[in-house]
Amino acid sequence: MYKKDFPYFKNSNVVYLDNAATTQKPQAVIDSQVEYYEHYCANTHRSNFGDANKATQKYENARKHLRSFINASKNEEIIFTKGVTESINFIAHSFANSFDTVIISSLEHHSNIVPWHMQGRTLHKGLEVVKYTSDLDFDFENFEALLQKYPKAFVSVTHISNAFGKINDLKAIIKLAHKYEAVVLVDGAQSLAHMAIDVQALDVDFLALSAHKSFAPTGVGAVYVKEEHLNKLLPYQTGGATIDKVDFESSTLLDSPYKFEAGTQNIAGVIGFSQALSYIESVGYKQIQAYEEELYAYLDEQLHTIEEIKFYNSIQHAIGSRSFNIKGIVHDDIGILLDKMHIAVRVGHHCAQPIMKALGIKGTIRVSIAFYNDKEDIDQFITALKKAIAMLKG
Ligand SMILES: Cc1ncc(COP(=O)(O)O)c(C=O)c1O
Repeated sequence: MYKKDFPYFKNSNVVYLDNAATTQKPQAVIDSQVEYYEHYCANTHRSNFGDANKATQKYENARKHLRSFINASKNEEIIFTKGVTESINFIAHSFANSFDTVIISSLEHHSNIVPWHMQGRTLHKGLEVVKYTSDLDFDFENFEALLQKYPKAFVSVTHISNAFGKINDLKAIIKLAHKYEAVVLVDGAQSLAHMAIDVQALDVDFLALSAHKSFAPTGVGAVYVKEEHLNKLLPYQTGGATIDKVDFESSTLLDSPYKFEAGTQNIAGVIGFSQALSYIESVGYKQIQAYEEELYAYLDEQLHTIEEIKFYNSIQHAIGSRSFNIKGIVHDDIGILLDKMHIAVRVGHHCAQPIMKALGIKGTIRVSIAFYNDKEDIDQFITALKKAIAMLKG
């Protein structure tokens, strides 16, 4: 029903089911990019002529938009970045590096693992990992035991697992963490495409967001920083646009968010991010969630008609991604055949090698849906998958 808003579907015969990697962009977002480059391309926060002022205004309106979208209380709490990877690296480098212990979960993306290793933390030496239950849910008992052992820790967990679609109960995680005076960062890379986030209701300390996974251009994202932490946060990089005064002796920086946004930003991308938020608003999360839950259940039901399938979790507390393997067949081979049949899914470790290793596998076949997918996409995918299995078995 919504495919008509996305030019990709007019131009391609591909059944696109790789939305956890990146989503397609609606016409309105694409138009916002063309409009910026064709009509008011100028730098922001610097020059004082008409187009420069317009670009600055649009950029700052995008900040206000994102603030209200996630219900942050102040514009200063919204810092634009390249995406979740940069957001986590920034907070790791500028805030969390002074913490004795960082606690992550077993289902993290490499973007929420490698930055901690780069700080010299290894398992049980500054880095602790929350176990998972038999259905790949977050193990709260183990989490509380870790918080008791390592109070005042920095907790960094994903909202929705990109590999298995599991949704973490953020409210419960944050409440428990705060009981032990921990500070919590949430990796929201997979969130905005599927559900609303209210940072005040959650009482989250940091929220990393990725625009390209929620219908906006690539190379842009943001990090929400709760106001009480802003003054403790050091700039990760500095340069043009971050400063108040500079001479050869010293420099003084502006306040947040400007001191954290060094150099020329992805202006078109930020404007496109706001446009994508408007698009999501026009559809509505109520509609998105109800529709996706039905489609996800349909996908699961259809996959269950394949005898040789092996799942690693149920679809309880899950959305977006569904991961599995076919017994006796290497997942890469399925991926090659599906591609030949114009089905786009991801096969491999999905930037989550540790959980794959824990499950004793190298990777999975991952189908990930967005609200523009429909039952016909699922049917075409299932037909192609059955064909691929028959070819590989025969
Ligand atoms: C859960 C999760 N975290 C982090 C990332 C990295 O996000 P970005 O591409 O915005 O850097 C991804 C992307 O796949 C992801 O799925």
